[in-house]
Amino acid sequence: MTKQKLPENYPLPPGKFGFPLIGETLSFITDPDFGEKKKDKYGNIFKTNILGKPTVFMCGAEANRFILQSHFDYFSWEKGWPKNFHELLGKSLFLQDGDEHKRNRKLLMPSFHGGALNNYFETMRNIVESYLSKWENLENFTWFTELKQMTFEIASVLLLGSKRGENVAYLSGLFNDLTLGLFSFPIKIKGTKYYKALKARDLLLSHLEQEISKRKKNPTNDTLGLLIQTKDEEGNSLSIEEIKVQALLMLFAGHETTTSMLTSFCLALSQNPDVLMKVKKEQNKLHQQEELSLNQLKQMPYLEQVLKEVERLYPAVGGGFRGVVKPFVFNGYYVPEGWQVLYRIESTHKDENIYSNPLIFDPDRFSKSRDESKKVDFSLVGFGGGSRFCLGYAFAQMEMKIFASLLLRNYRWKLAENQDLTLSNIPSLHPKSNLKVVSLSKDIA
Ligand code: HEM
Repeated sequence: MTKQKLPENYPLPPGKFGFPLIGETLSFITDPDFGEKKKDKYGNIFKTNILGKPTVFMCGAEANRFILQSHFDYFSWEKGWPKNFHELLGKSLFLQDGDEHKRNRKLLMPSFHGGALNNYFETMRNIVESYLSKWENLENFTWFTELKQMTFEIASVLLLGSKRGENVAYLSGLFNDLTLGLFSFPIKIKGTKYYKALKARDLLLSHLEQEISKRKKNPTNDTLGLLIQTKDEEGNSLSIEEIKVQALLMLFAGHETTTSMLTSFCLALSQNPDVLMKVKKEQNKLHQQEELSLNQLKQMPYLEQVLKEVERLYPAVGGGFRGVVKPFVFNGYYVPEGWQVLYRIESTHKDENIYSNPLIFDPDRFSKSRDESKKVDFSLVGFGGGSRFCLGYAFAQMEMKIFASLLLRNYRWKLAENQDLTLSNIPSLHPKSNLKVVSLSKDIA
């Protein structure tokens, strides 16, 4: 009988750890091609040391399936996030595993799906319309900056319970301080970014507490109101402390990512006039029937293809970290417990074995007859996959479709000349110039 080889007898993945302590963190943060270059050198699985831990990068649809589905319980979300996230984002969904995660996801789910979403339509449409009118009166602006304000306003009205215009600027300032703290050294001394972030977190949480008490007396249909009312089958609901941290997490998870994807949508359309014409045609046809309605959002198959292609070619999130809680062997390499892994969204989306001419922006690859992502499971993972698929997917799709429809129906623009359109992925994927635009709507009117 042949003896089975023990996992630890397999070799560790190829690659190097870099400098003591910091490893290769600096290159990882500053070089957007860090992962792709290493993949070209070592293949689909390789080791490095980033963010204070030995880390294994795993690339491709098979690796995604392994991490997101078939070996799901070998990995922990909680152990995949750095300490700053634990302190600043509290015990929220990102930092939970097992039954605790399951229970909370179930309780949060109804506020982001089905009937609840319909209540958000008016708010989203009104805010998008106000931004389009503002841009009409500006000659030049930068889209990434404007879209960040827009998505923050939508999220803060629905999730933080703020009033439009009133305290959005104040909350956005606090949120900005909080986000900077997530990516800084955790030194709690007055004047440091981290200290400021802790203060901002406390102020945001106390703002949320006040808004929650108001809603307890007078229930509302915004996300915050629904999070208060939500109950599971046994009648359990979320405590005030839980609602506060979960709402803060949603704001973090939702607004930076949506901003990135919308900016990439605008960039891709500006660079692909044929696609722009076709997607505009679909909108003009709908516009002739009626003003944008909830029902119309389901009648935009070509826009859906375009959004999928933006997700593929410009993924807002480059990958997902997990802590390894059970050692395993993948592709003949051993990965020990206590390390972390990163599944790589970007490299799956550019895999020539799945997508033909992967560097070309071609929404028709997602047409019903050709859908290239259907060939292989876990090949389109811009919103993650498996049982921890993005909770805000439907929310984000609705927001993006409303924005895209109103933009295409009512607004004309061109990209400003002489700008650096190379992409940077910190804090999320966007052109280095932030996408400078010249407004043409007034000229046409
Ligand atoms: C275009 C916009 C968005 C993109 C590209 C995006 C992307 C993602 C990705 C890739 C994941 C999985 C990460 C991993 O596996 O490590 C994820 C998870 C998640 N997203 Fe999104 N997201 C978007 C919008 C939103 C919005 C609007 C919300 C909330 C309002 C949200 C809330 C979440 C949450 C809570 C999770 C974790 C789910 C869980 O652990 O069960 N996302 N998202």
